[in-house]
Amino acid sequence: MSHRHGILEALGADGAVVSGQELAARLGISRAAVWKHVEALAVAGYQIERVRSRGYRLVSSPDQLGAEALTGLLAGRRFGGGVVVLDVTRSTNSDALALGREGAPEGSVVLAEAQTGGRGRLGRQWESARGVNLYMSLLLRPAIVPAAAPQLSLVAGVAVAETLVAEGLPCRIKWPNDVVVGGEHGGGVPLRKIAGILTEIEAEADRVSFVVVGIGVNVNSTAENFSPALAGRATSFLMETGRRLDRTALAARLLSRMEGAYGAFLTHGFSALAPRWRALSVLEGRTVEVSSVGHPGDDGDRGTCVGIDADGALLLETAPGQVRRVIAGDVTVRGGYD
Ligand code: BTN
Repeated sequence: MSHRHGILEALGADGAVVSGQELAARLGISRAAVWKHVEALAVAGYQIERVRSRGYRLVSSPDQLGAEALTGLLAGRRFGGGVVVLDVTRSTNSDALALGREGAPEGSVVLAEAQTGGRGRLGRQWESARGVNLYMSLLLRPAIVPAAAPQLSLVAGVAVAETLVAEGLPCRIKWPNDVVVGGEHGGGVPLRKIAGILTEIEAEADRVSFVVVGIGVNVNSTAENFSPALAGRATSFLMETGRRLDRTALAARLLSRMEGAYGAFLTHGFSALAPRWRALSVLEGRTVEVSSVGHPGDDGDRGTCVGIDADGALLLETAPGQVRRVIAGDVTVRGGYD
């Protein structure tokens, strides 16, 4: 971590005053050097107040994704080596797929301030307003068979939901990987989607060449940032909590949680993450309808969600004692949203 990022981390976002002496001691530099770094941070758009004879206080951060800041926060980590931040792009997933084909290493990350052709699951569009949310794609090169790749969406879902919970927003996962809030009172309050994950792979018959995990998180967007079609169905961290988040810091926390979750997946398989996933699942015990994907002529199923299998398949009780495994599909919750 660079000295500047060390200062930002030490000051934190809660407005606490930290003395120059404490900052200097933490970073192992002189107080004069601390002052120089504070001046440079001010030039970069950080508003840092000097509180007479007490120290420094971070008043506000520039609302901009910072590649340098992110690289600094993630130095030496799996997702810290190749961070690219674009202003506008069609889709960060397309960019990461291109990087994968060019041979970029595992852990490369592409973020953008805006997407003009953001993609969602099942051919849907992902609305990508400028400068308010997180749009990022991770390039992974796990030694897995293609059939196991969807589990990486579940792994990412756990990392995203846990990150938002740690920021103070109770949210859950709707299989396979929608991160949602609401749905309390037995489904009386509709679910609102705050984040989604789109995993795309390039593979041979029996071996994954690389995987791109695309993550979209609605962070600081307001209702005006969504099209009318999403009214009441999409939400953001700001809309739910009234609090704005520093997107760079959030991206760093999310990537570091993803590093832990992905590491556990590589070492032990999805079963290591399944209990965490289940603890976040919003579907358990609910009546749902599943429209299957890849089964032409299959109208889908209705049943009670009784959990997920060790490999991440949804378990649906369609009749007493009759449990069906659903590998891919779209779930509609009764009283929820589609
Ligand atoms: C979904 O819930 O349907 C998945 C949404 C995934 C959106 C993200 S935003 C970053 C990355 N780039 C894309 O084009 N899509 C994913």
